[in-house]
Amino acid sequence: MAKMMVTDRDGHLHEVEGREGLKLMETLREFDYGVTAICGGLCSCATCHIFIEPEWMSRLPTPQSDEKELLVELQHYDAARSRLSCQVEFTDALDGLPLQIAPDE
Ligand code: FES
Repeated sequence: MAKMMVTDRDGHLHEVEGREGLKLMETLREFDYGVTAICGGLCSCATCHIFIEPEWMSRLPTPQSDEKELLVELQHYDAARSRLSCQVEFTDALDGLPLQIAPDE
């Protein structure tokens, strides 16, 4: 099974099974250390903010304008690493994806 390597807000690393075809958020919200995803994936709350290692960013689909607009408003926005996990679909090609749960805003 393909995995995601998830670092939580306390710096602890979790190996999580990634599920092909599901948004990263759909997996991450199942964990206490994960994301809250208040809007349920409608790209309107940014409570699913994560950081992706820069060398993996190019493997992901380019963010749409609504995702970018939301991200740049965040206090912890990082142009090199920020994504909304509800806008990124997991595929087996992303096996080993390292990501970090962003701090609460
Ligand atoms: S879950 Fe609300 S923006 Fe991603």
